[in-house]
Formats: sequence, C-alpha cells, structure tokens
Amino acid sequence: MNKICCIGAGYVGGPTMAVIARQCPNITVTVVDISHERIAAWNDPNLDNLPIYEPGLAEVVAKARGKNLFFSTEIDKAIEEADIIFIAVNTPTKTYGKGKGMAADLTYVEQCARRIASVATSDKIVVEKSTLPVRTAEAIQTILEQSPHGASFEVLSNPEFLAEGTAIEDLFKSDRVLIGGRTTTKGKEAVQALVEIYANWIPREKIVTTNVWSSELSKLVSNAFLAQRISSINSISALCEATGADVEEVATAVGKDSRIGPKFLKASVGFGGSCFQKDILNLVYLCQQYGLNEVADYWQGVISINTYQKNRFATLIQKALFNTVNGKTIAFWGWAFKKDTNDTRESAAIYVADQLLSEGAEIVVYDPKVTLKRMHLDLQTLWEFRGESQVEIKEKLSNLKTASSAKAACNKSHALAVITEWDSFKTQDFSAIYSQMEKPAFVFDGRKILDYNQLQSIGFTAYEIGKPTQS
Ligand code: UDX
Ligand code: UDX
Repeated sequence: MNKICCIGAGYVGGPTMAVIARQCPNITVTVVDISHERIAAWNDPNLDNLPIYEPGLAEVVAKARGKNLFFSTEIDKAIEEADIIFIAVNTPTKTYGKGKGMAADLTYVEQCARRIASVATSDKIVVEKSTLPVRTAEAIQTILEQSPHGASFEVLSNPEFLAEGTAIEDLFKSDRVLIGGRTTTKGKEAVQALVEIYANWIPREKIVTTNVWSSELSKLVSNAFLAQRISSINSISALCEATGADVEEVATAVGKDSRIGPKFLKASVGFGGSCFQKDILNLVYLCQQYGLNEVADYWQGVISINTYQKNRFATLIQKALFNTVNGKTIAFWGWAFKKDTNDTRESAAIYVADQLLSEGAEIVVYDPKVTLKRMHLDLQTLWEFRGESQVEIKEKLSNLKTASSAKAACNKSHALAVITEWDSFKTQDFSAIYSQMEKPAFVFDGRKILDYNQLQSIGFTAYEIGKPTQS
C-alpha cells in the first residue's frame, strides 16, 4: 500500500493529505479535484496563495509538495494508480427535492464512486472521508460492485475530526482516529491496511476500529454533542442577560466539574462552520426517516437555539440603536465562522448581516482573511435560496463594504459588532476608535474577547453576550 489518491482538495482533503504525506515519506499521495483553479492554487509556488488558510499548512505543504505530495486534475490517472482512494468531496445540505434543507446531498460522493467503478482495473480500498449519513458506505459498495473491469473494492469509513483553524495540530495529534469497516476477512484486512498508515504517527491505542455504520454515525454524533454544548451555554447566556448573572462565571463554575469539563462552553453569537448545522440536520432527518420523532425534535432544538442566538444578537443591536438601524453604519469585526480560517460557511456573520441589511443598515466589514467577493457570495446564496429578486439582492449588497483595517471599519460608524474572535481584535487602540465613531458609540461583543470595563470607561455603551448591561 504505497499510493494514495484523494478526491477533493478542500478544507478536509488538502490538510489531511498534506499531513499523511509528511508523516509517511514512503507513500505517494496525489490529491485531485475537478476544479482547475483550486489545483492551480495548491500548486502555486507562492505559498500565500494556497486556497485554504490554516496555521502551519503552508509549512507542511512546502516540505512534502513535489516529493511525495502532488495536486492534480488528472483524476482518472490518480484513481487507477492508487491502492487507497479517499473521497473528500463536499456533502452540503440538499437545496432541492426530498429532504431539501435537511438531508445531505450525496451527488458528488455518488459521482466519485461511479467514476472509480468505471476507471479502476485493479482492487482498491475506498475510504469515506466526507461526512455521510449512516449506511452510505453500503450504497458506495453497491455502485463499486458494478465495475465493468472485475476489480474488487472494500469501502471504509474514516471520518475526519479536525477543526478548522487548528487542522494541522489536530491532524498531528488526533484524540482518536476512527476506522469503520466490514467484519468480513477482506473488510478486516482493509481496516488493518489503513490502521498501518495512521500508525506511522498516531499511537495505536488512539486508533479505534468499529463496524462501518458505527463509524459513520459517530461522526454525526460527535458534532451534535459539541454543538449541543454551545447551544446549551448560549441558551443560558440569554437567561444571564435577563437575570444579572454572568455567563462566563457560570461556565467556569459548571466546567470545573470534571464530569462536564471546561471545553466548548464559550457563549457566542452562534456556531457556524461547514459541519455542525449540516450534520445535525442530517441526524434529525435520519431519525425522522426511522420514525424517531422525539429524538429528531431533541436534536433539532440544538439548531433552533443557534438560530435564536444569531437573531437575538442582531435584534439586540437594533434595539440598542433606538430601535432603528436604517441609514446607520455598523462595523463588523470578522466574517469567518471562527478565527484562523478563511472559511465562511454558515458563519453567524451572514445571518446577523442579513437581518441588519434588511433593516436598512450599512455594514463595513474587516476580516483579515475573507474577501468582499466571498461575503457578497455568501449573502447572495442565502437570499437566492429564499427566492428574493435580483434587484433587491443587488441593492442590499451595495450596503455591505469592506475596510482595510479593524480601525478603518469603525470610521464614522454608529456601532461595532465583534463577530469573529481574531486575536488582533483584542489589542486595538479603542480610544482612537471611539473618537472616530458617531456618538453614542456602541460595541456589541459577540465573542466576549474585549475588555468590557475598559470600553465602558472610554465612553462606549458596551454589550457582551451573556453579561448584564451596566448603566
Ligand atoms: C469536507 C467533507 O467532505 C464534508 O463532508 C465534511 O462535512 C466537511 O469537510 P470540505 O473539505 O470542507 O468538505 O469541502 P470543500 O472545501 O468544499 O472541498 C471539496 C472539494 O471537492 C472542492 O474543492 C471541490 O471542487 C471538490 N469536488 C467536488 C471534486 O473534486 N469532485 C466532485 O465531484 C465534487
Ligand atoms: C467541528 C468539530 O470541532 C470537528 O471535530 C469536526 O471535524 C468538524 O466540525 P469546526 O467546525 O472546524 O470543527 O470548528 P469548531 O472549533 O468546532 O467550531 C465550530 C463553531 O462553534 C465555530 O463557529 C466556533 O466559533 C463555535 N464555538 C466553538 C463556540 O461558539 N463556542 C465554543 O465554546 C466553541
């Protein structure tokens, strides 16, 4: 087993394969993608132009690229040459047909399986890296078995647990690697082959093997549990604001219980990212399909609280600004769904901006890694999905601009909203920012990263998620 191909050079495929190549010098890893533009960016001699921003990624790519790590659009060639093929294409929520807005769209995954079946002339192990509904491996296996060349395939599930922004760190030091396979002799052999690859750098006790469906389900459940913690603390943040308790103090007290633990208890403007909402919707849909309506409703609650939190934040801004944002300028610090990534999928910024733009506000955003084009595309996609007219969309988009620095975004603005927790936002000159803003100047800290007392003493009217307002 010394040749790997990965279909999909995205946030998961790119970093994961770069780390495998780096840790396994004897294995040749080829990452392929249908997007010529994306592959060209991965091959760009200037590492600043990699399509994905992740701390540490450029260094790993620099060391392995051209040696045993290759990025290519020659998909068929890479499939044919590989012993192991990872499928890491995106699996967005369906935007059409049955399960619209809930189920995972498996079109790309199925296309990959069909392509592998039609191209491969020798036996392969096919690994699901994409997050998929339970029993998808079975469907992939069935498609592969139609191969006209008589090749045989073993499908494994090997979900990725990396978090964006810390992907490289997570890949080097995973809490666990999960590999699901069939319990037949061939299935066990395939699982073992993949175990041996990870064992090059992951301690064997951290490599967990299960049956294929347990593995698929564990990925959905892990994300659902993580998101549930955020929704739990976010629900309490609303209660804290109403009662005078401070959510940070509550989270610290609660998290000290070793059975609960301190992680993922940070109240925020709401979780985003390509996974949490999509995977929970997937879980909810799955439960509904099996008639488990109470279970479906339970997990749907995690999403409902997240939607509530995003709306609540936008409403708080509007209420504080004397019930109208029409014609007012609001500075946004951050657009990415978390710090240290240029990924904006499902970012709370999109939904907060949507509400404020619909109320007639002008928004000026500063994000160190996200382009205006990306921001406009995020909003346009949302509004088109809702069926809004192009005229309406164009007009609203003209009210969202970017600035070249955090300070510049606040120039003549009525309010500042902190949406992403980029470290550089903590150390700004707030007195200088205050002096260039309209008065009264408001700050809404959706990430709890600023010094609330300092802001108050400068003269800002400051609001922080989960903190009672002092007058
Ligand atoms: C991954 C997983 O696949 C998804 O299931 C999981 O929930 C989140 O992480 P991600 O890497 O974030 O997705 O997706 P993205 O960054 O969009 O990359 C997917 C890549 O696959 C794109 O570059 C796209 O061009 C490519 N692709 C898509 C193909 O090469 N072939 C296709 O048929 C479809
Ligand atoms: C998540 C999972 O963590 C990862 O294991 C899985 O493979 C993919 O999905 P990711 O979405 O990249 O990773 O980032 P994560 O760090 O989990 O953050 C998700 C969202 O939750 C972000 O918007 C983040 O800001 C928010 N969050 C996280 C909070 O609001 N509070 C917290 O305490 C933690």
